[in-house]
Amino acid sequence: MKTSRNDLCWCGSGKKYKKCHMLRDKMSSFGRRGTRGVIIKTEEQIEGIRRSSQLTRKILDMVQERIGPGITTEQINDWVHEETLANNAYPAPLNYRGKSAVGFPKSVCTSVNNVICHGIPGNEVLKEGDIANVDVTSILDGYYGDASRMFLIGDVSEEAKNLVDITQQCLQIGIQQVKPGKTTGDIGHAIQTHAEGLGYSVVRDFAGHGVGIEFHEEPQILHYGKPNTGVLLQPNMVFTIEPMINIGRPECKLLSDGWTAVTQDGSLSAQWEHTIRVTSNGSEILTA
Ligand code: MF3
Ligand code: CO
Ligand code: CO
Repeated sequence: MKTSRNDLCWCGSGKKYKKCHMLRDKMSSFGRRGTRGVIIKTEEQIEGIRRSSQLTRKILDMVQERIGPGITTEQINDWVHEETLANNAYPAPLNYRGKSAVGFPKSVCTSVNNVICHGIPGNEVLKEGDIANVDVTSILDGYYGDASRMFLIGDVSEEAKNLVDITQQCLQIGIQQVKPGKTTGDIGHAIQTHAEGLGYSVVRDFAGHGVGIEFHEEPQILHYGKPNTGVLLQPNMVFTIEPMINIGRPECKLLSDGWTAVTQDGSLSAQWEHTIRVTSNGSEILTA
């Protein structure tokens, strides 16, 4: 059934539809559709996504300046939440449901050590030797920008530092594949080859995704795969690449909170994420 403007929004925010997703739903129909229905963004949409992506980058820069031993993940949440609102934006994770049974209760994901992704901020205190991913998604003027970085907390082991570096290389290598004529499978294949070649494993239960008008759109960007398969890349597609790489085995386990994904074998996991636009001859990193 179609939601009318004065109904409660379908997203569960408790706000009226017209004050929430109505404009965005209208806008999604404007973009031209490319291969397999993937939205090719208009220049106007791209300008909006570029601005939200730059806000996301700015918020991650702020986290980078403050994070360290003794900080709780709840404090990171509060910084991100306040800074997002101060910029007239909204933190996309807050109350986000996706395919989960319960809405995400916080404004940012904080995933420490063996947590693969979607860690929920709380009273956990970051300590010397930890590695932590902070994943920020801002909604500015209805447009989404999504990025995450790893942070080394004080002095960390060589093993952990190498994992973080290799995972960042995986993101860079994935981005290098992006240009018209290449496919989503080319991105996944390049990442998988690099990670597995060095003895690491690629998480398969989560993927990168189209982004911009909604939080998670087509196409899905797997971080493993075969060359020349999947969706053909075309100018002005916008998506994330966000490889999750484990030291041990790739399998995940979901905690009873319905969100936190940890490695089944308890090994360390790292992730880096950017929002990327396909240009006429390569890519633009919108969150850089
Ligand atoms: N930012 C995550 C991503 O990269 C999604 C987080 S969903 C949340 O796709 F609900 F956990 F916030
Ligand atoms: Co993402
Ligand atoms: Co993200």
